[in-house]
Amino acid sequence: MNQRLVDDLSEELGRLKAAGTYKSFNTLTSPMDAVVRMEGRGDVLVMSSNNYLGLASHPEVVAAGIGGLQAYGAGTASVRFICGTFQPHLELESELAGFLRTEAATTYVSCWNANEAVIPSLTDSNTVILSDALNHASIIDSIRLSQPARKVIYPHSDLAQLEAGLRSCDPGQRKLIITDGVFSMEGDLARLPEIVDLARRFDAVVVVDDSHGCGVLGKTGRGVAEHFGLLGEIDILTGTLGKALGGAAGGYVAGPKAVCDMLTQRSRPQLFSNALPPTVACSARAAIRVLLNEPERVSRLRENSAVLRDLLRAGGLNPLEGDSAIVPVIVGDTALAIRMSKLLLDSGVFVTGFGFPVVPEGTARIRFQVSAAHTRAHLEQAAAAAVTAAGTLGLL
Ligand SMILES: Cc1ncc(COP(=O)(O)O)c(C=O)c1O
Repeated sequence: MNQRLVDDLSEELGRLKAAGTYKSFNTLTSPMDAVVRMEGRGDVLVMSSNNYLGLASHPEVVAAGIGGLQAYGAGTASVRFICGTFQPHLELESELAGFLRTEAATTYVSCWNANEAVIPSLTDSNTVILSDALNHASIIDSIRLSQPARKVIYPHSDLAQLEAGLRSCDPGQRKLIITDGVFSMEGDLARLPEIVDLARRFDAVVVVDDSHGCGVLGKTGRGVAEHFGLLGEIDILTGTLGKALGGAAGGYVAGPKAVCDMLTQRSRPQLFSNALPPTVACSARAAIRVLLNEPERVSRLRENSAVLRDLLRAGGLNPLEGDSAIVPVIVGDTALAIRMSKLLLDSGVFVTGFGFPVVPEGTARIRFQVSAAHTRAHLEQAAAAAVTAAGTLGLL
């Protein structure tokens, strides 16, 4: 064992603890839901999960997973092209393509992997990547893995800068515009109509990671494209199965058949890593079915998000505006965000504080995430606890 490495890391961890920025885990002993059981604390109200539609513990989603486990075993024991393509993969991919109104879809074990697949695979030395500065870490890292002619990181949602970037490209270059559909730390939406318009003018390809929009936005939960009336108009969508669509794990790329075919041929996360476990594919497919059969979950989620924003504002807090189910309250300092989330947990509300390096220094926040599983009483409890904690910390 290299003692010097252990000593160096221990010193660094000690610094995080001294600064109050060390993250510790809370262990759950019940399924993800509006209320969960937490080791050492009993029942707590969850306000920071991605279980947007409350499907993580839905009986049909759970039963489909058990059915998949019994029919296909624990996993694929292989990557897709060797001997790891199972019937549930094809069924899920066809369901996803139908749901998202794309020609085809292909799956990965996570959206992180889906982004790592699509961005480097579609990038060559004649490609310019144009990416929003606040895109998710998986997009940032995927761009780092790519070898384009040039990268243009435009300031968040600054479409004048995006246009300038497009204008500076050679006409023969492939131009990939990459954006989150819903920005995960702010909860705001990409300015998709203008982005699509720019893409058409400059012959660019639009790639949208709709991890926080799928199941959440649009009348029927089809995501940010549906929200803006652009269903079927986005070149390529990526997203996760680990949030609204059952919450287990998994990611997808949805778009033209040629894109999905090429990813199957070339994308390293599919060529060199095991396929999504069939049990997870079965659960995700069941989640889409529940969503289609119960569109009222999507409208309840929207109502719940608006109610929480109103309650927080009425208590003197200032949540960021937005149409998504992400409701951040900026507190400034990272240690303050962590202290506020501890106070909230002491009062039975589980909501995580985010600070540097996840968000820029000085913009640490408490990020509420709303679920269709929340009742009005849950939202009132969360808002009241937040107002009390903010008062204790002198933030009101
Ligand atoms: C915008 C975005 N993309 C990708 C991911 C990663 O998804 P997964 O957990 O499926 O890897 C997340 C998860 O937080 C996300 O918010």
